[in-house]
Amino acid sequence: MIIALDGPAASGKGTLGKRLAAHFGLRHLDTGLLYRAVAKARLDAGHRLDDKTQAVTAARALNPAGFDERVLKGHAIGEAASIVSAIPAVRDALLAFQCDFAAASPGAVLDGRDIGTVICPDADVKIFVIAAPEVRARRRAAEFRAAGQTADEAAILEDIRRRDERDRSRAVAPLKAAADAIALDTSNLDVEAAVAAAIRIVEGAGR
Ligand code: C5P
Repeated sequence: MIIALDGPAASGKGTLGKRLAAHFGLRHLDTGLLYRAVAKARLDAGHRLDDKTQAVTAARALNPAGFDERVLKGHAIGEAASIVSAIPAVRDALLAFQCDFAAASPGAVLDGRDIGTVICPDADVKIFVIAAPEVRARRRAAEFRAAGQTADEAAILEDIRRRDERDRSRAVAPLKAAADAIALDTSNLDVEAAVAAAIRIVEGAGR
């Protein structure tokens, strides 16, 4: 079984992806980490994010087995990831890894922006996760505080809106729900309720 989970920044896809994978005995890939790792490689090298050639070289050299999720999940890296992810050749360079991951037994949950539309158009289940921007900013700020970091909720909200707009309006593989995706609005759901709702969607899709 392949489950495609798409949605805007900080909508809870990562948490849902992990929980759905554990529940259904599938592997999980947070595809945002791939774009974040490309962005981090550019930032570490002191190169411009929109330098296409360098970004593609970084994408081809990625080693997902060595990813440090805590570092990659930083707020500034998310913003930078949204810039490199708009480069079509970067997306191309990351395509095969994602398709191979999805195709390997026993199946997988992939979360991102273009899973249901580009990476796994034939996924068994497609869920488009949404939540009000204010709710997403509040959750993200709470996560940073729980990790001992400071968090400016208003600045996070502004960043989320800007990143969503960039991801929606790019020419290649923009953030959008696949025509056959089921929307899951988690604005008024806590984690357990959102997981339960996602499990119901997956089970319902198999009937
Ligand atoms: O999901 P996450 O916030 O980690 O993603 C970081 C950025 O990577 C997104 O804002 C988006 O620009 C890009 N991304 C993408 N396609 C995906 C996953 C992430 O373009 N499948």
